[in-house]
Amino acid sequence: MSTNGPKILPMTDAALATAADEIVHGRLVAFPTETVYGLGADATSESAIARIFEAKKRPRFNPLIIHVADAKQAEKYVEFDARAKLVAESFWPGPISMVLKRKPGCAISLLAGAGLETLAIRAPDHKAAQALLQKCGVPLAAPSANRSGQVSPTTPQHVAESLSDVNDLSILAGGKCTVGLESTVLDLTGETPAILRHGAVTAEDLEPLIGPVTLPGADTGTDAPKSPGQTLRHYAPDLPIRLNAVDVAPDEALLAFGKTKFMGLRGGGFANDLPDERLQNLSPVGDLNEAAANLFAMLRRLDDSGAAGIAVMAVPETGLGLAINDRLKRAAAAQNQPAPLDQEATRG
Ligand code: TXA
Ligand code: MG
Repeated sequence: MSTNGPKILPMTDAALATAADEIVHGRLVAFPTETVYGLGADATSESAIARIFEAKKRPRFNPLIIHVADAKQAEKYVEFDARAKLVAESFWPGPISMVLKRKPGCAISLLAGAGLETLAIRAPDHKAAQALLQKCGVPLAAPSANRSGQVSPTTPQHVAESLSDVNDLSILAGGKCTVGLESTVLDLTGETPAILRHGAVTAEDLEPLIGPVTLPGADTGTDAPKSPGQTLRHYAPDLPIRLNAVDVAPDEALLAFGKTKFMGLRGGGFANDLPDERLQNLSPVGDLNEAAANLFAMLRRLDDSGAAGIAVMAVPETGLGLAINDRLKRAAAAQNQPAPLDQEATRG
């Protein structure tokens, strides 16, 4: 295993082949789009997506933009309704992401969508991005290719500087981004289309096609502030969550991390005696990357297991453990508070 920093690949057929090969093997490739450079991974691979969060050092699992070649590819994964078609016909490929419902059986990683029932998806307008999408054949999940909290990169050099300690990162060079600002995020899951993040495609551009569009910060008639992050619904299980469990009750399910051999079952016996559907181990060997990749799928499985609650073993507060614990704490806290009004409709 070499431990080299990022390498910038000039856009050639050979570089494209290398980049596509990296993607299908679950590794990261930074690629240019017309908005900003993205840090891309195979959107259908949970472990590849975990690497994105690890590389960005995101304190939280925020949902990522899913990149596809065109509307036809998008339709494989999300409910591409009449409004989405109108927007795509006018603005794709281009700097607008649409939040749409996942199709049943959608193959996109749960971690990429932060466990939500919706996905933000767009077709980028850049030759290199399109060539990479064609060549690797899978959709690419990609946040902006910068360390969390830094400005978004618009040149390959920005990416290399910002992610200088990411080993073996390939950066497909495609010049300076022409838009230079992240895509507009348009939520089409509600009755009224809502811009969640401003970008190059504006409400004025959209309204002739799909009617009135609400803006971030718009007064929705409730006290709930409409700003990104706060309007975003986060996935939380229905069952009560008990953190830092050192034993498990007979009617509970266990979300384990590491060895479970010595976890006791209250009233006698061991956690390993629980029925299979009520025992899920994020990573028996204690690997945080593996744990992140399993988190949302395992929480969902346990939530549907018929147990009375979910006991969760402690996860170390390092690396991806920070993001895992952030999500678990939010899931535990969500049950002590009613969901804000505007979040009620699409919960559960
Ligand atoms: O221009 C862009 O969009 C760039 C390039 C690389 O395509 N990507 C980008 O990704 O800016 P990121 O991860 O930095 O921003 C994703 C945005 C966040 O504001 C996130 O909250 C929102 O999209 N988002 C993603 N999925 C969502 C969902 N299901 N519902 C609501 N908002 C979502
Ligand atoms: Mg960003």
